[in-house]
Amino acid sequence: MKVLIIGSGGREHALAWKLSQSPQVKEIYCAPGNGGMRGFCIPVCVDVKDLKSLAVFAQKKQIDLTVVGPEDPLVEGISDIFKAKGLLIYGPSKNAAMLEGSKDFTRQICSRSGIKIAEGRTFTVISQALAYLDKQSYPVVIKADGLAAGKGVTIAQNHAQAVAAVKDAMEQKIFGNAGNKIVIEEFLKGYEVSVLSICSGTDAVVLAPSQDHKRIFDHDKGPNTGGMGTFSPVPAFSPQQLQWTKDHIFVPVLKTMLNQGMPYIGTLFAGLMVLEDHDIRVLEFNVRFGDPETQAILPRFQGDFFEMLYRASKGEPLTDISLKWAEESCVCVVAASSGYPGSYKKGFEIKGLDQPLEKDCTVFHAGTEKKQDRLFTSGGRVLSVASLGKDLKEAKEKSYRALKQIHFDGMYYRTDISDKAGI
Ligand code: AMP
Ligand code: GLY
Repeated sequence: MKVLIIGSGGREHALAWKLSQSPQVKEIYCAPGNGGMRGFCIPVCVDVKDLKSLAVFAQKKQIDLTVVGPEDPLVEGISDIFKAKGLLIYGPSKNAAMLEGSKDFTRQICSRSGIKIAEGRTFTVISQALAYLDKQSYPVVIKADGLAAGKGVTIAQNHAQAVAAVKDAMEQKIFGNAGNKIVIEEFLKGYEVSVLSICSGTDAVVLAPSQDHKRIFDHDKGPNTGGMGTFSPVPAFSPQQLQWTKDHIFVPVLKTMLNQGMPYIGTLFAGLMVLEDHDIRVLEFNVRFGDPETQAILPRFQGDFFEMLYRASKGEPLTDISLKWAEESCVCVVAASSGYPGSYKKGFEIKGLDQPLEKDCTVFHAGTEKKQDRLFTSGGRVLSVASLGKDLKEAKEKSYRALKQIHFDGMYYRTDISDKAGI
C-alpha cells in the first residue's frame, strides 16, 4: 500500500513511523514532511496549501490512503476534494471538521448529544458580550469561535482583562474573522486529559489517554504553546473514566453527527477537564491527532495502525478491534527554538542525532530541515524525544538523557514533563 501523509510536524513524523511498521505499507509520501521524515518517506513537491494539486498527485501516484495531520486542510475541505476524486482519505469532511473550526458549533453538537460542557454563551454582537461580562464572576474564559492557531483562548482573571479580550477579538480583530463570533465560558478547575479516538462514522476506537504541557515554562508558567511535552498513560485517569468517555462523549457525538448528515470519519480528539469531583467536561474537540500527544501514544500502540486507519476511512465497523498497549509508559519532551512561542531564529545546525539512542527512545522531528546530510532548525518546535520506560519516572529519565546528547543553538525544553502525573 502507498500512503500519503499531509503535514510537517512531530505528529506527522510519529504517524509515518508507526505506519511504516505495518507489513501492508510499502511506500510513504510526505507533503511536505521534515528533515527526519526524509530518511524513510518520499517528499512531495506540491504546495501543501494547494489541496486540488495534492489530490491530483495522489491520483497520479495511486495513493491507497492519505492521512491528514493538521486541522487547516481539513477545515478547508481536503477530504471532500479527495473523496470527489474517489481517493481514500483519513480525516473528516469540511462540515464535520467544524467540530474544531467553530467552538459554537461544538457547543451545539455537545448540547444535542447530552454532553456536559462549561456553562457559557456565544456572541456575535460586542455590546451584548460586554453586557454579559458585567454579570459574571471571575475568572472567565473568552474563546474566538474560529481557528486561531491555538491562541484564541484567553483566561481573563478579572472584568478588565475580559473586556480587553472581547475587544481584541471582536473590535481589533487580532484573530481575523475567527473572532467575529466569540464564546464566553465559565472557568473550570481540574486537570486536563487528551483522549483521541479513531472514528469510522459509526464506531469509535478510543486510544490510550495522554496529558499535554501547554505552557512554555516549567510548572505551567508563561504563554501557551502548541504543546511542550506529553505522557501516556495518565495514572489519575482510570480505565473506567476512559470507558465513560467513550460511552458518554464519543459515541453520542458520532450519533449526532450521523443524524445531522455529517458522518465523522477521522480522529476525534477530546480535550477534557476532569473536575475536582471527578466529573468530566469537554473543553474542546480537535479533528486530528494531537501534537505532541501522538508522539507519546503511538510508541505504546501495538498492532497494525495502518489497518485501523484504512478501515476507518472506508467507514467499516470497528467494533471487533481491541487495542493492545505496551505496559510501559511513554514520556515525550519537545525541544524548541529559544523565543518560541514568540519570534525565534532558524537555521542552526542540530548535532548529536547521529549517536545511537537508548532502546525504545525515538526522536521525532518537527522544525528540522536536511541540507546535504546536515540537519538545521526550521521551526519553533524543533524535535521531540519520546521514550518508553517501565514507569513514567524511567521514561522521563530516558528522554532527558537523550536530550543531553542533542544540541542546537538556543535549544530549550521544559524539565518537568510528567511530574504532574504525581508518580
Ligand atoms: P484551546 O486553544 O481551545 O485548546 O484551549 C486552550 C486551553 O484553554 C485549554 O487547554 C485549557 O487549558 C484552557 N481552557 C479552555 N476552556 C476552558 C475552561 N472553560 N475552563 C478552564 N480552562 C479552559
Ligand atoms: N497538543 C494539543 C493539540 O494538538 O491541540
